[in-house]
Amino acid sequence: NVDPVVIMKQEVGKAAASRVKSDSIVGLGTGSTTAYAIEYLGERLRKGELKNIVGIPTSFQAEVLAKKYRIPLTSLDTVDRIDIAIDGADEVDPNKNLIKGGGAAHTREKVVDSLADLFIVVVDSGKLVDKLGSTFLLPVEVIPMAVAPVMRSLEKLGGKPELRMGVKKAGPVVTDQGNLVIDVKFDRIDDPACLEKTINNIPGVLENGLFIGVADIILVGEIKEDRPLVR
Ligand code: A5P
Repeated sequence: NVDPVVIMKQEVGKAAASRVKSDSIVGLGTGSTTAYAIEYLGERLRKGELKNIVGIPTSFQAEVLAKKYRIPLTSLDTVDRIDIAIDGADEVDPNKNLIKGGGAAHTREKVVDSLADLFIVVVDSGKLVDKLGSTFLLPVEVIPMAVAPVMRSLEKLGGKPELRMGVKKAGPVVTDQGNLVIDVKFDRIDDPACLEKTINNIPGVLENGLFIGVADIILVGEIKEDRPLVR
């Protein structure tokens, strides 16, 4: 009686984790789908079918999960490359460009995922869009003192910005780096590569959630006739 969506996320997470080889440095992404990949990596280590991997977490959440599943961790101070990264996404377009940051972790995710020789994205089919920005607001991480001017700059670019507020927390969401997140609605994003650079040029912006030309493989989970499938 397990929710088919949960089973589908487990399957796609497992499919990604199966591609990790022994002696690898692995970028560990953030989100509910990647969480299953981290769990399965731990299982493969425990069974001895995978040996000598070390993880680089993209968030506090990923770090906690890696510790729970006994995956050794390191940082970018001690390695200069990453073999494979597994991470979720909030939207994926036909060119494998992404919007990320639904979990407010996109800044560290972009650092880790961009350094990986192979970046595998794990999503369900509901995340596939023709054009980025059509279903999801674009997250922008901003240092706290710059929120007001950054919001005005985003409006000048044609966006409708709103400060992300906590769900089970009073006040705004605070990122792992101690910053805030502005979610921006754009009616259409015609040139995502240009928008990524333009937003990152606004003083006070740390990073936005457009990932252009970073992903190598998209693993898509879907539910067909009540059965989970990965393609
Ligand atoms: C974190 O900031 C995001 O980029 C996540 O990777 C994204 O929200 C995917 O999460 P789910 O797998 O839970 O949908």
